Amino acid sequence: MTIIETAFDKNALEYDNWFEKHAPIYQSEILALKEAIPAHKKGVEIGSGTGRFSLPFNIRIGVEPSPNMSILAEQKGMTIINSVAENLPFHNHSFDFALMVTTVCFLSDIPKAFSEVHRILKPQGEIILAFIDKNSELGKKYEKEKSENKFYKSAHFHSTQEITELLQQANFHKFSYWQTLTKNYSDEIEQPAQGFGTGSFVVIKAIKN
Ligand SMILES: C[S@@+](CC[C@H](N)C(=O)[O-])C[C@H]1O[C@@H](n2cnc3c(N)ncnc32)[C@H](O)[C@@H]1O
Repeated sequence: MTIIETAFDKNALEYDNWFEKHAPIYQSEILALKEAIPAHKKGVEIGSGTGRFSLPFNIRIGVEPSPNMSILAEQKGMTIINSVAENLPFHNHSFDFALMVTTVCFLSDIPKAFSEVHRILKPQGEIILAFIDKNSELGKKYEKEKSENKFYKSAHFHSTQEITELLQQANFHKFSYWQTLTKNYSDEIEQPAQGFGTGSFVVIKAIKN
């Protein structure tokens, strides 16, 4: 069993409630992910947290190291396996797609994690990654205020280019990009746009080569 004693574990309910308090941000992120996530396919979320981004897309299986985050996801009907992205407890070719939302910045070994995702995907399977771009307004703000933020203290933020290169090295290709949150902490739900460079929340989809 992998237990990571983290801020997420200690403050799981507070983390989950953040999405209620910031509903327009959450809804904007859901709309961006909707562009990328295939319907009616078998998917898994890695770093599934409390299931905030799994359940709207009917993803019922998650991998998560924090027991307290997992309990909240399980209460909502998910099956959570206690492990980490760097060591995925699945057979080769198990899923049509794998989702990771704001988790990549917490991984201790991104190449290992991407190689594990590649292994568990079926041929032509899709990896869908969503994260706060280091070069965006919100990315710069998070980086600057990181030491005072209990959740993001240990995060290592990346640019879209950096994540793309790491995915290429892990043998993914055919990249698509969407973005949202062009205005920080706006009260309006934003429609996503293709590409990256203006939105703080970026979604990348790439195909297993
Ligand atoms: C910012 S939260 C995101 C949770 C969920 N994806 C969401 O967006 O609500 C980051 C999550 O990554 C998990 N995590 C940290 N290290 C991990 C690792 N090596 N493998 C998988 N998940 C990890 C944390 O426990 C936490 O639940």
